[in-house]
Amino acid sequence: MKLLLVCLGNICRSPMAEGIFRQLTQQRGLPWEVDSAGTADYHVDEPPDRRAQRASAKLGMSISELRARQVQAADFSYFDWILAMDGDNLRQLQTLAGNKHKARLGLLRDPFLQHPRALEIPDPYWGDMEDFLACAEQIQQAAEAFLQNVGEDGKQ
Ligand code: 4NP
Repeated sequence: MKLLLVCLGNICRSPMAEGIFRQLTQQRGLPWEVDSAGTADYHVDEPPDRRAQRASAKLGMSISELRARQVQAADFSYFDWILAMDGDNLRQLQTLAGNKHKARLGLLRDPFLQHPRALEIPDPYWGDMEDFLACAEQIQQAAEAFLQNVGEDGKQ
């Protein structure tokens, strides 16, 4: 199972989500490949925002080695699942993906897109440390639910 987490800048939400999924899949002994990327190129090659690093450290993981990258066309044929943090990210992905692609696209909080209103992980970039901690917790809950819903091999 190959999973890509996507937000706008790849320095706040999606690197925290990458760290959380790595931790959860390791704890469960699942051989998942987890990566993250941004729809924008503003922060390519930068490490995660310091507040995202701190919030992740509080949950017991280090994400300081991660570096931002932009989503690329090959991602749609490589990954099994691509989960966006918010509706804007998802719309961008749907546009980039075109008609034929392997990856399933969804929202982290609504992988099967069952809800009429987008269930989003709001962007904490313009907020404070509290917003980053709340964001990390929200991601952790959504990640646990995703693992439960898609099963160990990511199929459902
Ligand atoms: P992210 O947060 O998408 O969760 O990484 C953001 C990071 C940077 C910007 C916006 C959101 N920015 O506008 O530079």
